[in-house]
Amino acid sequence: MYTQAMDSLSPAETGPRAVRSLQEQELQARFDARIDAGEFIEAKDWMPEHYRKTLVRQISQHAHSEIVGMLPEGNWITRAPTLKRKAILLAKVQDEGGHGLYLYAAAETLGTSRDQLLDALHTGRAKYSSIFNYPTLTWADVGVIGWLVDGAAIMNQVPICRCSYGPYARAMVRICREESFHQRQGYESLLTLMTRGTQAQKDMVQDAVNRWWWPCLMMFGPPDDQSPNSALSMKWGIKRVSNDELRQKFVDATVDQARLLGVTLPDADLRWNEERQHWDFGAIDWDEFKRVVAGHGPCNHERLQARVQAWDDGAWVREAALAYAAKQAQAAMQEAA
Ligand SMILES: [Fe+2]
Ligand SMILES: [Fe+2]
Repeated sequence: MYTQAMDSLSPAETGPRAVRSLQEQELQARFDARIDAGEFIEAKDWMPEHYRKTLVRQISQHAHSEIVGMLPEGNWITRAPTLKRKAILLAKVQDEGGHGLYLYAAAETLGTSRDQLLDALHTGRAKYSSIFNYPTLTWADVGVIGWLVDGAAIMNQVPICRCSYGPYARAMVRICREESFHQRQGYESLLTLMTRGTQAQKDMVQDAVNRWWWPCLMMFGPPDDQSPNSALSMKWGIKRVSNDELRQKFVDATVDQARLLGVTLPDADLRWNEERQHWDFGAIDWDEFKRVVAGHGPCNHERLQARVQAWDDGAWVREAALAYAAKQAQAAMQEAA
């Protein structure tokens, strides 16, 4: 995943608070010093309310992205072309579910319950990465998601392993290891299609790359000069590298991979800039990004519906688990008496 658009704060939250007690000022000073020293902040440590809220928002949006991200690829599990590909895809989709669980658990350490977090998703108040609002039209989309979407996610997420909030940083270490497998399985699947496939299969890969390339570049979030709250997240050590820097790193890493694969990245302005020692790339359609984030992408409605349906269908499991836990607790009490 999938951290794009996750540092947005409302103006009420960014404004400085006028009155502060002396004790609060001391706690704040100690907190700032720990952040500056690169120390981890843990769940029971004092933290500014704004830092807590920012983290709850970012981690929960990240968790939502993981579980919504299971849907576009889950769509292809029954139609995977071989047993090997089916097993790989099942493992990957299951990993994404696990990432969601680590992240919901990390968000819960900040004092917000999982029910509250999921309610925000189901009622449309919480965001998730806009990339998962695009459809998976062919089998090549599954490979391209692994290569490009998980590749962009790795770029975004590796710096979060050094995030100042301990539980989030530790969850990310494990997640990044798995994302690396996701990226490689996608690339290997595409390489198979491109080197051993028919012309129709090669065309299918190119078509998938054409459709996913630009939305992948949008995954890094708005340009730095339109992302004013990033500065605060940087100061707090929640964000370590800016949106534009991460996007550039992703483009630089991907151009050679595309060449090796034999596909063309759909950007006529893509060229090596000797002076900058980076690849220049064309203008991103930020209107499309805003439309999709605002809920008007090709699959927003379908994705949210699927999550709400899964929650409703799972009610009996939650009820049974709670009834079992109550029974166990009662038995333990009787034994102790
Ligand atoms: Fe993931
Ligand atoms: Fe992944």
